[in-house]
Amino acid sequence: MDNAPIPKSPGSTPHGGRTALVSLPADERTQSNAQLLADDSQYVMRPWTAAGEPLPIVEAHGSYVRDADGRVYMDFTSGYFVNQAGHSHPRVISAAIAQLHKVSQVSGRHASEPAIGMAKELARLAPGRLTKTLYTTGGCESTEFALKMARQKSGKLGVMVLDNAFHGLSVQALATCSNESYRKSASAPLDANIVAAPTPYVYRWKNPDACVDESIAALEQLLDANPHVGSILAEPMQAVGGLAPPLEWWQRVDAIRKARGLVLILDEIQTGLGRTGKMWGADHYGLEADIMTLAKGLSGGVGSLGAVMATPEIAASFWGATSPTSAANAISCAAGLEMIRVIQDEKLVENAAAMGEYMTRVFWELRSPWIGDVRFKGLLGGVELVLDKKSKQPWSKDQILGMKSDLLERGVICTATGPLGNVIRIQPPLSVSPSEIDRFVSHFDAAVRAAMQAAGRASA
Ligand SMILES: Cc1ncc(COP(=O)(O)O)c(C=O)c1O
Repeated sequence: MDNAPIPKSPGSTPHGGRTALVSLPADERTQSNAQLLADDSQYVMRPWTAAGEPLPIVEAHGSYVRDADGRVYMDFTSGYFVNQAGHSHPRVISAAIAQLHKVSQVSGRHASEPAIGMAKELARLAPGRLTKTLYTTGGCESTEFALKMARQKSGKLGVMVLDNAFHGLSVQALATCSNESYRKSASAPLDANIVAAPTPYVYRWKNPDACVDESIAALEQLLDANPHVGSILAEPMQAVGGLAPPLEWWQRVDAIRKARGLVLILDEIQTGLGRTGKMWGADHYGLEADIMTLAKGLSGGVGSLGAVMATPEIAASFWGATSPTSAANAISCAAGLEMIRVIQDEKLVENAAAMGEYMTRVFWELRSPWIGDVRFKGLLGGVELVLDKKSKQPWSKDQILGMKSDLLERGVICTATGPLGNVIRIQPPLSVSPSEIDRFVSHFDAAVRAAMQAAGRASA
């Protein structure tokens, strides 16, 4: 367990103004981890199992969270890729509280100052001509609305997605995802109008030099064979595994989709708001989508908020039922808008870019025989673990689970992901500092060595 690193006072973190974790007085900490987890297992439905989950978290600030037993962890998941400016940024909290004293719930049929303000700011920041915002309550709902918009615009039911994509867990969103166990959970045939093209996973492409040509050829063949496809839905970079297509791949896909008149929907739910070291994942490729989906950090970590942005023409012709009941709640909009301002004022996009480069360098400098690839665009990505650099044999599921548990024991929270499940996803808040990264990497290195020693592959 790692108790040493808690910032002692506001301003001791590199971007200043962040509140240190403050221990709750003993009488307020009424329940222990064990007590909370006993109730959790009795009353909360968790249809999945993962090492070290759930952790009952009672406080969180910046890059750190504290559990009910008082242990402090570095949260290198940013609360599941939500708290771009760190947990509980004081400006975000103040904005939420100030709004709470005015009005909190406003239905999407009406309007609130923060919802209008956020839509205006998003229109200023978004790439291309995405000037209109439709609010939703989160990511998978944004996917659903985006698909509706694209169908209306194109007049076609078919959508092209990419292998390894993740766009949400509702039934239609699942039809756009490739994870088999997620898909099976819908217990029914999923929409057969959805067609998946290969993701340019350069590291594991048989001939990496041919990855772009071959994957583009396959994509074009699929489009030829499926004239019912009217749109393409993709993340600019896939968060599952940190797979950023080469620049040329996106340039060619963009040209193809324009030539064929396909609607481009970019899912910026995880890549948006600075995560990749630019404000949008699209900015790395010069992409201007017709529709863009947002969620996660959009709420500033306060409640849940999603959005679908569209060009004025698509927005003008979009028709349908009104708006989800809880979309555009004023507290989340106020908190999210303040977080977007913090991202800009504290130069967190620039910091994400610099820290992504720093982390890449530090991981490669480990010269670990078990690190097959290090992939970061800003702070989106992770490290792919292999048993052998040449064969690229991935770590087993048990080895990855063991690694995650060991990291948790050392006081670090992160997740595992990727097409083969062997990528440790490392996505701290955009405010992370070099010293926090150094500490993380040293824990990571120790955990990797311990796992490989236990597997009889010691390289002390
Ligand atoms: C790229 C992407 N799209 C969609 C979603 C779904 O968002 P939500 O969990 O808010 O439904 C996620 C969530 O992880 C995501 O990463």
